[in-house]
Amino acid sequence: MSNHVTIVEVGPRDGLQNEPYTIPTEVKVELIDRLAGCGLGVVEATSFVAAPAIPQLADAEEVFGRIERKTGVRYPVLVPNLKGYERARAVGAEEIAVFTAASEAFNRKNINCSIAESLERFTPVLEKAQTDGVRVRGYVSTVLGCPYQGDVPVSEVVRVAEALHEAGCVEISLGDTIGVGTPSKARAMFEAVATSIPMEQLAVHFHDTYGQALANIYACLEAGVRVIDSSVAGLGGCPYARGATGNVATEDVVFMLDGMGMTTGVDLDSLARTGDWIAGELGRPRSRAGQAILKRN
Ligand code: HMG
Ligand code: MG
Repeated sequence: MSNHVTIVEVGPRDGLQNEPYTIPTEVKVELIDRLAGCGLGVVEATSFVAAPAIPQLADAEEVFGRIERKTGVRYPVLVPNLKGYERARAVGAEEIAVFTAASEAFNRKNINCSIAESLERFTPVLEKAQTDGVRVRGYVSTVLGCPYQGDVPVSEVVRVAEALHEAGCVEISLGDTIGVGTPSKARAMFEAVATSIPMEQLAVHFHDTYGQALANIYACLEAGVRVIDSSVAGLGGCPYARGATGNVATEDVVFMLDGMGMTTGVDLDSLARTGDWIAGELGRPRSRAGQAILKRN
């Protein structure tokens, strides 16, 4: 099993999408550029969704047009439909992520359609992406619980993940949108999906509402996952998942992986400084590891 873990930094997208106050475009651009400068190889930059659904990311074109686009760094963007795809491509996005859920109730609130309809909606997007040579990641939300329907059967997670994989998504990110998962359930869910999708094409995406995210990541690392989504300073949340807090902090994940002797390519000191800076800009708390790293230096 490889010792290298790919961190997918979702701070500029998942981290900012739920912030209540308008964040200046230049702060978003600086955040993305600074994260790329920390050695992160994948920085999810923004979303080309309907502005009324996510007003905070309504400046997606401007943000994407202004970032540095560092060689060797991938900058995926969220796309809900063909319109989003065309917008993303018009400003030069080379990698996208489509998103659906394992629970019908959440999907309706989030993207205003059923799971089946969302998969149909993605078909032309995936066809175009294939023609254009665009890499597509697929997100499955609510893999360990739904804010509206409660429990979500693992069989539904597997079914939706398989559908995305068959449709052409080269990576499937399994999202615990409301952070209710605990390690043994997280591992069982991950292993169930990994019976039909190659492990190296799977990622985990834990929100940290109940402080379980690192433990869940550890459980899934033991099961073989090597792609982990996280957000600098633990920013994040989905406006359609009330009560859910941010993603696991990238600083915490990198600190743990460093300690386990795994490689990420991320410079923890630079990351802690970036986390400190963006938390200050947004008036948010620093991550635990981020604060400790800054203090020891
Ligand atoms: P709808 O209202 O059903 O769509 O929204 P519609 O096709 O009827 O269009 C309505 C209007 O939106 C039209 O404008 C469209 O042109 C426009 P009008 O004619 O009324 O002026 N529109 C768009 N505008 C710009 N870009 C677009 C676009 N599409 C339509 N791409 C829709 C359906 C999916 C568009 C909407 O519900 C939406 O954008 N939802 C996004 C919600 C979202 O971004 N949620 C957060 C991300 S998911 C997440 O955070 C979870 C994750 O982190 C993993 C985890 O934690 O589990 C990924
Ligand atoms: Mg999320």
